[in-house]
Amino acid sequence: ALERTLSIIKPDAVAKNVVGEIYSRFEKAGLKIAASKMKHLSRREAEGFYAVHRERPFFNALVEFMISGPVVVQVLEGENAVLKHRDILGATNPKDAAPGTIRADFADSIDANAAHGSDSVENANIEIAYFFPATDVYAR
Ligand code: CMP
Repeated sequence: ALERTLSIIKPDAVAKNVVGEIYSRFEKAGLKIAASKMKHLSRREAEGFYAVHRERPFFNALVEFMISGPVVVQVLEGENAVLKHRDILGATNPKDAAPGTIRADFADSIDANAAHGSDSVENANIEIAYFFPATDVYAR
């Protein structure tokens, strides 16, 4: 099915100057960029985005990391975009990420893991709306 997913290039990957390389991998996989912006998240924005993880032991470290520098947030559109994007990213922990995935190539740790991707169509819709008003998402 034609889907949209929310993708975040995290502060570690922005600092490594691999935004274009990561966008290129999305494009080569047939994912189209339907919305895009750079943003330095406030603590409140990062906490709100990751609210489902509030009770997890890694929550504070995750928020600290996500506000440590600017991120690049995009909506990707394409066939099976949610799963396709997660496949391109690789496993959450770079130690488990398959060779050639974004996390295998650019992530340093489970916290500094280069990128975020929505885990379901339902969550994608929530996460897209968190960052982009509907008028700023362009059908591709
Ligand atoms: P992300 O896809 O952005 O969603 C939540 C983030 O929490 C995850 O990527 C990791 O960067 C981070 N994290 C840290 N520790 C863990 C853990 N044990 N399990 C899952 N995510 C973790």
